[in-house]
Amino acid sequence: MTTTSTQVAIIGAGPAGLALASKLDRLGIDNVVIERRSQEYVLARIRAGILEQTTVDFLKDIGAAGRLEQEGIPHHGVRLAYNNRIIPVGLGANTGGKVVTAYGQTEVTKDLCDLRAASPNPTIYEAENVSLHDFDSARPYVLYDEQGVTKRLNCQLIAGCDGYHGVSRVSVPESAITTYEKVYPFGWLGMLADVPPVSPEVLYANARRGFALCSMRSWTRSRYYIQCDPDDKVENWTDDMFWDELKRRLPDEVSDNIQTGPSLEKSIAPLRSFIAEPLRFGRLLLAGDAAHVVPPTGAKGLNLAFSDVHYMSEAIETFTSDGHEDALSRYSERALARVWKTQRFSWYLTNLTHRFSDDPFDQRVKEAELAYVTTSQAGLQMIAENYVGMPL
Ligand code: APR
Ligand code: PHB
Repeated sequence: MTTTSTQVAIIGAGPAGLALASKLDRLGIDNVVIERRSQEYVLARIRAGILEQTTVDFLKDIGAAGRLEQEGIPHHGVRLAYNNRIIPVGLGANTGGKVVTAYGQTEVTKDLCDLRAASPNPTIYEAENVSLHDFDSARPYVLYDEQGVTKRLNCQLIAGCDGYHGVSRVSVPESAITTYEKVYPFGWLGMLADVPPVSPEVLYANARRGFALCSMRSWTRSRYYIQCDPDDKVENWTDDMFWDELKRRLPDEVSDNIQTGPSLEKSIAPLRSFIAEPLRFGRLLLAGDAAHVVPPTGAKGLNLAFSDVHYMSEAIETFTSDGHEDALSRYSERALARVWKTQRFSWYLTNLTHRFSDDPFDQRVKEAELAYVTTSQAGLQMIAENYVGMPL
């Protein structure tokens, strides 16, 4: 068997794994990325595209923000809609000038892949049978098959960045991990279309028929979502049916102006909140979707992956320079504190804007809460502060 060694073995080449790899490159820490899929597969995923300022700053720091700075669209506010009304929530105005940037996650991943391509440290795509070993000792290693040949990678640390379905979290003995989960009784049907966005800022609509969301990828490409049954199938929805239902859920002034067109893509995603803790098991550290999943309301998934990577890279830098393991435990505590606050906000915004039952009382309470938070300075500030992202 071929054996190689590195300082950090990174499992997964999604946004978390690639961002960590580039940050470690900059810190002069050797690393190898091991990814189960092909690069083309990784780049084909379409996901939320709202970046917090801390995410933008991280991408600038590692040198992956060139295109983002040209093409990203700053949003100075978001909009909440209910009862045929639209309420603007100023972001900068309520947070001392912070904004978010609309830039698709697919583009972020592409920029990270391009940056990684210039790294002297390797990325192994299409690795099969990846398995993690001895991370409860000082000599962990990873086994994987590359083109049918089994390889061994010795390392000091393993970074589990392999998403919710990855191998890292499930390699930890069940007795060492606590998980929390909430599955919502609905999904989101998303559609991408080359039409100008109807709203210049992201609009979250609470409607009696169910939630709707207007977002964008550029000034010529829109992303819209409607709440749907979690077991619904994309094949049940023609483009016309989607547009009709979307319009029914939006205030008249929005639906009257919406430009429709053929879909480029339609997909259904379930909604769930999930957290595993701690994030450190000996020499294995988890980050991103491997450790936690948020419902997409608020677009926090990608941003949380970046804040984990920020804390993790600080911990790895300290650990590789002084060898003290305390830095690794502090990673778990620091990252989880932010994860829980962000989980709370994603859960809150989901509850506020979605239809959970047929009970008209529930709907009226949500409308009353929307009326309250959008007319209270404290309420507006709470939404804005969370939307732009908690400080690191
Ligand atoms: N071995 C190696 N790689 C694996 C394995 C495995 N056993 N299992 C999964 N992977 C890879 C996946 O193919 C994927 O490319 O790990 C990567 C994980 O990427 P993501 O699922 O995108 O997770 P993460 O990088 O944490 O990103 C978090 O991005 O993916 C979105 O919704 C997610 O917005 C969130 C953010
Ligand atoms: C998106 O642009 O895809 C998007 C925006 C905001 C969200 C979720 C998704 O809360």
